[in-house]
Amino acid sequence: MSATVVVGTQWGDEGKGKFTDLIAAEMSMVVRYQGGHNAGHTLVVNGESFALQLIPSGVLYPHVLPLIGNGVVVDPRVLLTEMDMLNSRGVSTDRLRVSGNAHLILPYHQELDALHERHLGKNKIGTTKRGIGPAYADRAMRVGLRVQDLLDEDIFEKKLNAALEHHNMVLTRVFNRLPIEASKIMDEYLGECAPRLAPHIADSVSLIHEELEAGRQVLLEGAQATFLDLDHGTYPFVTSSNPIAGGACPGAGIGPRHIDRVIGIAKAYVTRVGAGPFPTELFDDTGDFLVDVGHEYGTNTGRRRRPGWLDLVMLRFASRVNSLSELAITKLDVFDQLETIKVCVAYDVDGERHEQLPYHQSLLHRATPIYQEFPGWQCDITGITERSDLPAEAETYLAFIEEQVGVPIGMVGVGPGRQQVLHFSS
Ligand code: GDP
Ligand code: IMO
Ligand code: MG
Repeated sequence: MSATVVVGTQWGDEGKGKFTDLIAAEMSMVVRYQGGHNAGHTLVVNGESFALQLIPSGVLYPHVLPLIGNGVVVDPRVLLTEMDMLNSRGVSTDRLRVSGNAHLILPYHQELDALHERHLGKNKIGTTKRGIGPAYADRAMRVGLRVQDLLDEDIFEKKLNAALEHHNMVLTRVFNRLPIEASKIMDEYLGECAPRLAPHIADSVSLIHEELEAGRQVLLEGAQATFLDLDHGTYPFVTSSNPIAGGACPGAGIGPRHIDRVIGIAKAYVTRVGAGPFPTELFDDTGDFLVDVGHEYGTNTGRRRRPGWLDLVMLRFASRVNSLSELAITKLDVFDQLETIKVCVAYDVDGERHEQLPYHQSLLHRATPIYQEFPGWQCDITGITERSDLPAEAETYLAFIEEQVGVPIGMVGVGPGRQQVLHFSS
């Protein structure tokens, strides 16, 4: 019995897709356990780039069963578009399975997401406007529709009408919008999506346990990240699910003892999309440099990502809440031309030094990073395949992270390609 979790340790876009794809070679199943198409996971294989939103990043391997777990919120229209995209590029999605217990994103979720953001004005979260928050809210309110409802027209219609009764009142009376018609949704979801998705809808919990009981390897692919976690992130500037490794338990239907490896993905610097506190954020030329060289624009929404230096206070917290067994550092190559690299080792808040994350969020807003500086290596590391070939300055930087966070580094990314990775044996 062995399950591995890949989890983001920062604010997302750390390179979870790349490492999931890499590790999936040794897995028989890859499961998404939370989030929805707010995620954008990029895989680059033989120079060809794939941007995935809902489909697990193991899909490129014919031997892997990609599974969308019960904890995911699924827009069936987006899922079908993504399947079509993969099929048209020669990738089969025949083995894809979607949990019947996963909740559906419906058109009103998307509309409400955008309206809530507009209503918040300058206090907006900066969501992806994919309807993620409203869909999870309906789940908690117990008025959500689930993927399995696509298989029963009567139930679908009943639940849809009940949900619309409430949502249309909000749309028309609070936001002064037109009501949404049930028939249009029924045509799209039941008429167009259901017949195509039906063969893929499954009892995901049984599938996962059969795999584990047969002694095969299951990979659980986190979307978003630790600091976007609904409970442990920088609330309210978070997503509406639990990306942390523990979220894989409810989101996939396994117990904590099934998980024996947790790989925390950390970019060599930090980026954030959307609003919220970011102590090491850079507003200068170095920030622009990281965005330009790192191509830091959203895979999903195209938004410019906010850049900043690596923050070890964040990583120490991520290590704790995810029980990380190892770190994978990505995008080290983005530093290739830099003369000096900074790392935040602690925060100064009102004259007090914090090496662990201050629990009160207002402290985070006025935290001043305390940096340690390192000389850059100023050479191209994108072609390196062995750790021993890394410049000494890069080794020093990595050893410092390991020592400060107390978690061994297992892998280091030196480029977007599947092969551009160094394996560190611990
Ligand atoms: P995810 O959401 O965590 O899967 O990450 P994204 O795919 O949104 O963003 C990560 C970006 O960095 C993608 O464009 C990847 O192709 C790219 N990437 C991943 N690892 C590396 C690396 O080690 N070096 C470089 N230069 N790019 C990388
Ligand atoms: P991956 O899996 C980066 C951010 C949004 C916003 C907040 C809430 O590619 O790392 P939501 O639409 O989820 O309600 O938005 O979360 N966000 C992400 N940022 N990477 C992601 O996914 C994200 N998914 C959501 O920008 O700040
Ligand atoms: Mg992403």
